[in-house]
Amino acid sequence: MNVRFSVNGRPCEVAQGERCSLVDYLRDELMLRGTRYGCGQERCGACVVLVDGAPRPACQVEAGHLQDRSIATVESLDSSAEGRMLLAQFERLQAGQCGFCLSGILMRSLAFVRESADGSPAAIARALDDHLCRCGAQPRIVAAVQASWQALREGAGAL
Ligand code: FES
Ligand code: FES
Repeated sequence: MNVRFSVNGRPCEVAQGERCSLVDYLRDELMLRGTRYGCGQERCGACVVLVDGAPRPACQVEAGHLQDRSIATVESLDSSAEGRMLLAQFERLQAGQCGFCLSGILMRSLAFVRESADGSPAAIARALDDHLCRCGAQPRIVAAVQASWQALREGAGAL
């Protein structure tokens, strides 16, 4: 019996019991290389994707445990108004340097701008606390998320 789930709307299946992390499945089977592998120990946030809309570290999720789940990766970001807003604000504010941390941060930020009632810098910093950025781009990243949260609530989200 196979385990069936979707990635960015695309039907996927793996053999039940197959030992393969979601980050390896995305990168090596689906060739979706936007999701990064950093620490492999849930300590850096580089691999975060959305599982049924909730941020999860893909290095800690077994692909064989995803029956009926819906996965969204950074490659799907431009398919929603919130995602397009984040991309636009990160680019406008040059929020990042090498970019290694950004796919995980963008996916957690997507959940944040959709769900959080508090768009303050403190709330954003708390939400992104599990994400490391070795380039020290956190101030610009927080500013880009705040600008996105604000613009979406002011109705400027029709990108
Ligand atoms: S690679 Fe998954 S949290 Fe670091
Ligand atoms: S931009 Fe380089 S690690 Fe964050």
